[in-house]
Amino acid sequence: MAEPTILGILASGRGSNLQSIIESIRSEKLPARVGVVVSDKPDANALKRAAELSLPAICVDRKQYPSQQEFEQEIIKQLQLHQIDLVVLAGFMRILSPFFVHAFANRIMNIHPSLLPAFPGKNAQEQAIRYGAKISGCTVHFVDEGMDSGPIILQQAVPVLPEDTPESLAARILEQEHQIYPQAIKFYVENKLRIEGRKVIIDQGND
Ligand code: GRF
Repeated sequence: MAEPTILGILASGRGSNLQSIIESIRSEKLPARVGVVVSDKPDANALKRAAELSLPAICVDRKQYPSQQEFEQEIIKQLQLHQIDLVVLAGFMRILSPFFVHAFANRIMNIHPSLLPAFPGKNAQEQAIRYGAKISGCTVHFVDEGMDSGPIILQQAVPVLPEDTPESLAARILEQEHQIYPQAIKFYVENKLRIEGRKVIIDQGND
């Protein structure tokens, strides 16, 4: 049998997407393995969740490195050490430089809580409410050199309700994030994704 795809998960905070990916692996819906969890924040809940689940977890604290490049070099080193095939950004709150993106070209995924290209960047749910959007949602995309601008793999729409607060909308979007992120990773590990310019073609052929 082929070796499972090894994931390197980068997370700065709560770690609920990390958790949903791990649950998909453990319930054998996602044929992959987590090689390492990396956080840039020593107190990230994602690190606690990883430790509880007995996964290798390390902190690479930006404050300990004189430059962004040295910080990213250390993360790259850790990912290579753990023989990572795919880098999964799960609430990683730092923009990665072209240096990092090139090191894992077309092998970095991110999830964003809006229907891109609408509302990139921070506070996407609040942006959607302020704008008066009736529909928002979430997007899984490959990471390129821009911010939330890489080729889109999967999206899921979520209605914005008149009474929504950023928190209530975020909670409903998060439920969908937990569905589409493991699914997008599954397509990747099954070798079903092909990038053609801006488009990601999903091979829907027979299993
Ligand atoms: C999610 O809303 C994700 O879309 C965004 O950051 C948040 C991470 O949440 N990129 P969690 O740490 O996975 O719970």
